Amino acid sequence: MQFLALVALACAVSAQTVNKIVLTNDDGCVAYLWLASFFNLDVGWAVAQIRAQNDALNAAGYNVVLSCPANNESGTGSSSETPTTLESPCEFDTCPTGSPATGFNTTDPRLNYVNAFPVDAARFGIQTLAPEFFNGSKPDFVVSGPNVGNNLGLAVLFSGTIGAASEAALEGIPSAAFSGATGDEVSYTTLTTAPASADSEAAVIYSALTVSFLDVLLASSAPILPSGISLNVNYPSTTSCTSVSDFKFVLTRIFADPFVTDVNPCGNPHLPTESSVISMAGCFATVSVFDASTKLDANAANQAIVLDKLASILTCIN
Ligand SMILES: *[C@@H]1O[C@H](CO)[C@@H](O)[C@H](O)[C@H]1NC(C)=O
Ligand SMILES: *[C@@H]1O[C@H](CO)[C@@H](O)[C@H](O)[C@H]1NC(C)=O
Ligand SMILES: *[C@@H]1O[C@H](CO)[C@@H](O)[C@H](O)[C@H]1NC(C)=O
Repeated sequence: MQFLALVALACAVSAQTVNKIVLTNDDGCVAYLWLASFFNLDVGWAVAQIRAQNDALNAAGYNVVLSCPANNESGTGSSSETPTTLESPCEFDTCPTGSPATGFNTTDPRLNYVNAFPVDAARFGIQTLAPEFFNGSKPDFVVSGPNVGNNLGLAVLFSGTIGAASEAALEGIPSAAFSGATGDEVSYTTLTTAPASADSEAAVIYSALTVSFLDVLLASSAPILPSGISLNVNYPSTTSCTSVSDFKFVLTRIFADPFVTDVNPCGNPHLPTESSVISMAGCFATVSVFDASTKLDANAANQAIVLDKLASILTCIN
């Protein structure tokens, strides 16, 4: 009885207290927008693409902690294990055999490896690193990737990049997976030793695209994405798309399904598949909306929510 009365009192008080707004303006007044991001990908923590993405997000003002597998964990889907001591060196010899199951760069502790699968690295980032670096709070968003190589159609079901984005969404943190067609798995040192190489240039272009995509998505009204829904974003080859301004985003679906009616932004009740759009001339990046628990296409209602948020950057291919 007393407990119930207290709860009722607390509710009454809080209902009353959330109506006082202080509106102020002075020269020293700054609005602090605090955003956190994580990275995670199929390949490990030291690959050029992930470090280029880290640099680009930091330069754009995001508050970033990187949590990636110690090594190439391609194609491991939603596999999970307890991280273990390294039985061979980290990717590109960035840590020696015998290193602890999780570790970080001592000069930049926001760069973390986890010797396990991508899902485990995402979980470690969300549950262990976020409270440490974000003063006890959760991340606002999880960026998974960019993966080296596209994740289209059936590959989505086996991709560690999608697995990590799904894990985040299922833990209640909005997320998106990013993958790019161009590039090999090269060390992050390539970005400085060979900045004009195809690998470095693609890494820089994809990173900038991801920042521009996030700037739009994260500025949309809360919630950032519907619960349990994530996004699969793929970038086409940079061979004939050499500048960030060449690219346009297209709303797509992962799997063709003539029996399902999609959201209809371009005069067609069936969205094109990401596989068909990614290979078209015209530098089209694809955005598919998926259910994190099944990794299958989301329904039209959830597609419509994403369409509304991204309308300013989406285009039609016809
Ligand atoms: C990463 O793993 C995939 C799948 O096992 C393999 O095809 C690829 O060659 C590996 N990459 C490197 C750099 O070891
Ligand atoms: C660790 O961070 C320092 C400073 O940013 C950098 O010079 C070094 O290459 C990094 N090493 C790894 C393995 O991340
Ligand atoms: C976290 O707390 C530290 C120490 O109080 C402070 O310097 C920092 O700005 C805080 N960071 C955020 C993101 O609130």
